[in-house]
Amino acid sequence: LTARLTLDPARPVGPVSRRLFGAFVEHMGRGVYGGIHSPEHPTADENGFRRDVLDLVRELGVSTVRYPGGNFVSGFRWEDSVGPRSQRPVRLNLAWHSTETNEVGLHEFASWLEEVGAELMLAVNLGTRGTLEALDLLEYTNVPAGTELAEQRIRNGRTEPFDVRMWCLGNEMDGPWQLGQLSAEDYGKLASRTAKAMRQVDPDLELVACGSSGAGMPTFGEWERVVLTHAYDDVDFISCHAYYEEKDGDLDSFLASATDTDHFIETVVATADHVQSVRRSPKRMSISFDEWNVWYASRVQSGLPKRIDDWPVAPAISEEAYTVADAVVVGNVLMSLIRHADRVTSASMAQLVNVIAPIAAEPQGPAWRKTTFFPFATTSRLARGVALQVAVDGPSHVTAEHGEVPLVDAAATADADAGTAALFLVNRSQTEEAEVSVDVSALGVGTVEEALTLSDPDPHAANTSEDPARVGLRPNPRATVVDGTLRVTLPPVSWTAVSLR
Ligand code: AHR
Repeated sequence: LTARLTLDPARPVGPVSRRLFGAFVEHMGRGVYGGIHSPEHPTADENGFRRDVLDLVRELGVSTVRYPGGNFVSGFRWEDSVGPRSQRPVRLNLAWHSTETNEVGLHEFASWLEEVGAELMLAVNLGTRGTLEALDLLEYTNVPAGTELAEQRIRNGRTEPFDVRMWCLGNEMDGPWQLGQLSAEDYGKLASRTAKAMRQVDPDLELVACGSSGAGMPTFGEWERVVLTHAYDDVDFISCHAYYEEKDGDLDSFLASATDTDHFIETVVATADHVQSVRRSPKRMSISFDEWNVWYASRVQSGLPKRIDDWPVAPAISEEAYTVADAVVVGNVLMSLIRHADRVTSASMAQLVNVIAPIAAEPQGPAWRKTTFFPFATTSRLARGVALQVAVDGPSHVTAEHGEVPLVDAAATADADAGTAALFLVNRSQTEEAEVSVDVSALGVGTVEEALTLSDPDPHAANTSEDPARVGLRPNPRATVVDGTLRVTLPPVSWTAVSLR
């Protein structure tokens, strides 16, 4: 099959925010305990954090990390997680039916993130708590000194404030699984009140209201409209969450998951813009796509123990064996975020280590890269400057879940100052190679610096602890620029990045 792409460098979509390459760490499964933190592991540092995991997190190139949940946050008392470790209470983690030791809390996580070189994004509990506790946490993290909670932080070893900029006002408050689920009316009012109150402490915060937990929620669309009708003036972002999985062996539909991401974003933009016009507001709402990934979520619930006498510490949950197809979908969702860079200015891949994660941390053994690591790390490294509009002229096919979808999909960025550009491509065909051509002369670039492809004759091939390098990026020798035209061949079910200078 062949496809021709047309780029429009004259009308860029918008700058690609570094915050698009965020991740999410929740107190869930072996994400924190047994993941980033394992005092018994041979590579653990003096604070119990694994150095091998830290190295991979750095290599992944994450910009921002959302913490500490997720569903966990709706039962979380932040003050349990600070102060002398020996005095921290052991609590039930109701979201994941496990035990929370509070051994890792705000200070430890923030210090670890400083080592990573990423920004901390916090979520407050609006499920079982409210405005006052959110204010207390904000005072603790951001007020320099002289108040009860600021001084408590200083006594706990942190003289300078954490100065957290981005805050999520609760998590998935539309979900029936959420501790303290609310109606859109009730949540919109609470988010508005809490945001106003938090701005009385720190006017320059960037606040995220909960959007829908997924585009398939029965309240999707109406939830956003009602929440924003109450909170439009008070927040900067509305969130989107989306998880994709291959269902019943329907690989064609699964590979087209990013068309759902496009639709989700465009629907939320339309709804937010509707509220903007009704309110005659000069402000344009941004999207924080602060949970997204491939997740075989349908397998989770039945696997969680639910007994009153069984609350394990860090049980293994959702340690996905990511395949080539999963990585292609992850790379494709990133492309969707990039092509909506004017409205999506923050995003978090959920999650980071072990749980729904691109990084596996063996309890005693090494840490290694799952297939999804590669498109994320490469896109984070190469997507610089502005996102460009890309028109794809090529064949399509019909999928059961998403209708007619193009077989080749693409996103592009250009950095005029550096004189570079990058193209990200997927081939969704299970059988045919795609010969792609694109005129890149208007970008002022003429040579291929790197062309990397992730593919395998078996789209369900995965890395494992026995063979952690089975799937990876390989140089694509079939990418050339001749007379201003880039030609690149994409294997079936593949993800490719091409950087140009
Ligand atoms: O990332 C796992 C869970 O997915 C999060 O806790 C929740 O917000 C979402 O439903």
